[in-house]
Amino acid sequence: MSGSAPLTVLCLASYEKGQAFMRECKRQGCCVILLTSKSLEHADWPRESLHEIFYIPDVNKEWNKQDVIYGVSYMARMIHIDKIVPLDDFDVEMGAALREHLRIGGMGETTARYFRDKLAMRVKAQEDGIAVPEFVHILNHHKINEYISRVPAPWVVKPRMQASSLGIKKAHSPEELWHIINALGDRQSFHLLERYVAGNVYHVDSIVQDREVIFSIASQYGKPPMDVAHQGAVFTTKIIRYGSDDEQTLLALNKRVLKSMGHVSGVSHTEFIKGGDGQFYFLETSARVGGANIVELVEAATGINLWEEWAKLEIQGAAYRLPQVRKDYAGLLVSLAKQEYPDTSAYNDSEVYWRMKKLHHVGLVVRSPKEERIDELMQNYTERFYHDFFASHPAPEKPSN
Ligand SMILES: Nc1ncnc2c1ncn2[C@@H]1O[C@H](COP(=O)(O)OP(=O)(O)O)[C@@H](O)[C@H]1O
Ligand SMILES: [Mg+2]
Repeated sequence: MSGSAPLTVLCLASYEKGQAFMRECKRQGCCVILLTSKSLEHADWPRESLHEIFYIPDVNKEWNKQDVIYGVSYMARMIHIDKIVPLDDFDVEMGAALREHLRIGGMGETTARYFRDKLAMRVKAQEDGIAVPEFVHILNHHKINEYISRVPAPWVVKPRMQASSLGIKKAHSPEELWHIINALGDRQSFHLLERYVAGNVYHVDSIVQDREVIFSIASQYGKPPMDVAHQGAVFTTKIIRYGSDDEQTLLALNKRVLKSMGHVSGVSHTEFIKGGDGQFYFLETSARVGGANIVELVEAATGINLWEEWAKLEIQGAAYRLPQVRKDYAGLLVSLAKQEYPDTSAYNDSEVYWRMKKLHHVGLVVRSPKEERIDELMQNYTERFYHDFFASHPAPEKPSN
């Protein structure tokens, strides 16, 4: 921090998250302003750490870009804003647009596009020699026909800018595919088509400082997120073995992806699929912390809280130093619960690190220095979750990460 005036950080959150980020900014001496949706007026915001909260009218939590630009520019007549930090995936473009408009440093619109648009990230990764599932933009019908004659089914049709597996559809034949494409009408060009790669899905969560990945950790989802979202299942993920071939490959690929997309400073949650051919394919990246309580998973294993470290990095810049990183193992389980207040007191092993507190949800993080112990607990707890709590429901209208 330079000079004596505290930095003013404007946080954008169209979803209820990032409380730990805002609290850490305040601890670091910043003046923290939150811009959120009118519909989130009564959410659990860390009001004691916030200088002010501004509400933007929203339709299904989505903001009108022009409203936000007018609103923030009006606010800026009286308040000098030093930093703009989008806390949710959907806020990344808005944050970039505001930075461009107010001429504030940080990720601009060109780079933000690589972290939000799945077509943009596919094209860029491929240009830079990173393996991706064969894909085509749903634009030119001749090219789509050429693609389906070359790339064997099944395929997935995917919105370019969504999250939480929303709107992803699997097609097993050209007829089924054209049915899906035709039904999209004018929204076709906002989608891409790609080969369905059967296999395990992995995520790498990292911190980037001055274009270098200074922290990264690789984890493997239990069932692929799409199966969890579409079929209903207990969501699980766990840290993979430190030093294993898969870990080394994932961490190296993650570095290549973040370099390729041009990440300069901040955090990222990046995903890969391991195909039947043993090859890792780049799935998607983002400039935000992972959703679905991955922050608690990473904290359990390493002692690093990604929200807090991100806040310190934003504020301290080049002077930021990563704290000591522990190398324990951890696993996360989350499920919808049929009970309003599910009781997890019977899950009382000493390895339980964190318990979710959310109506109709149940979630736990376990941690241990031993990977085998995490495997054992995850298997046992997953079975018990199905028995004790599990409730299935159709995919949500709005994403929850
Ligand atoms: N090409 C693919 N092959 C197999 N599964 C896929 C493919 N693309 C997406 N999926 C499945 O859909 C999920 C969501 O896709 P992803 O691209 O990560 O979008 P988002 O998480 O933003 O909704 C993945 O975790 C995976 O389970
Ligand atoms: Mg994903």
